[in-house]
Amino acid sequence: MEVRYVTDRHDTLCAKYRQDYRDNPDYLYCGVADMDLAPPEPVLEAMKRRLDHGVFGYTELPDGYEKLVSDWMREQYHCEVKQEWVLFSPRINMALNMAVDTFTEPGDSIIVNTPAYPALTGAVEKWGRNLKESPLLLKNGRFTIDFDGLERLADQKTRAYILCNPHNPTGRVWTDEELSGVTAFCKRHNLLLLSDDIHGDFVWPGHVYKPLLTMYHNPEQEKVIVFNSLTKTLNIPGLIFSSIILPNPEMRRAMEETIDRWGLHNPNVFAADILKPAYRECGEWVDRMRAQVYENIKTAQEFINRELPWLDAYVPDGTYLMWIGYGRTGLSEEDMRRLLEEKGHLIPLMGTHFKEAGRGWFRLNMGTSGEQVNKILERLALCWT
Ligand SMILES: Cc1ncc(COP(=O)(O)O)c(C=O)c1O
Repeated sequence: MEVRYVTDRHDTLCAKYRQDYRDNPDYLYCGVADMDLAPPEPVLEAMKRRLDHGVFGYTELPDGYEKLVSDWMREQYHCEVKQEWVLFSPRINMALNMAVDTFTEPGDSIIVNTPAYPALTGAVEKWGRNLKESPLLLKNGRFTIDFDGLERLADQKTRAYILCNPHNPTGRVWTDEELSGVTAFCKRHNLLLLSDDIHGDFVWPGHVYKPLLTMYHNPEQEKVIVFNSLTKTLNIPGLIFSSIILPNPEMRRAMEETIDRWGLHNPNVFAADILKPAYRECGEWVDRMRAQVYENIKTAQEFINRELPWLDAYVPDGTYLMWIGYGRTGLSEEDMRRLLEEKGHLIPLMGTHFKEAGRGWFRLNMGTSGEQVNKILERLALCWT
């Protein structure tokens, strides 16, 4: 199964193309986590069948949806998930907001590691909860969780911890030791643990992604929720589907009531059709796509280290995102943004998009063709000529 790249996304209302430049072909958009490639054939075929049928009424989830997710978790990550633990949410972003709505109260505090994908901190702040940032520490080129700092953050009002694994934007895949540190910390302070694992299928050689549930003896007795989806994996985030894995029966009932209250009763018509092929028929394509994305990342890291040694570029543990440091240039974020945009015609996401802890960094998306990656790198080099 070929991986078909589509790097020109003008005139498609592409959200990662900035509105003010949308019609200008000279800019390269390397920000938003959405790859420039078409999904595998079995997914497209299922969508075409629905299109040809020509009716787009309300749909139900396919029979066995929960089993598809449960089998995937076992086969891919050796993680046992009972089928009844699986709930459907259109988006992870919605699911996170629903969890905050259901399990915390206004005025409660919630911990998030920063820099953070903005929807994670948004799910705290937009609901009138108090965001407690736990900035990651950079040690020898690796971001780590500040466990001492976490202890200082937890107080009587702290109710939850939102983890991102693999971590967007730094690309860290948390180790067993780090994950057990997080679960122990949450247990000690009786915190609900929410884990956003949407990037879990992008893990590079030498690293292993482990869903948090594998850290527990009996997840049904714990306050833990894992959110995941194949939308990043197959590059179909516009189809809008995700899973909530919630082992605790009491909490699951509460979450089901929230899903009902929010009126999220039917999946997107195309999402309903593609779930089976997506989970069962795309493995070979995923392997091929991942190998190509990994090559892009290595090419970029080698190029930057060789040609632009004043930047800090690492091969991430996971994700198709590169988190690039420019602290040693002494440039402010505004100056760096202008340099990239005006000289390089490059539009990445600048670090403070992920909160203040991201200052001095920008994020580049490597989920595109090798040719496009070369163009991005040439443009990056152009910034310093
Ligand atoms: C960490 C993380 N969580 C969630 C999302 C969005 O997920 P969804 O489209 O299901 O809301 C993204 C998208 O970039 C992401 O990076």
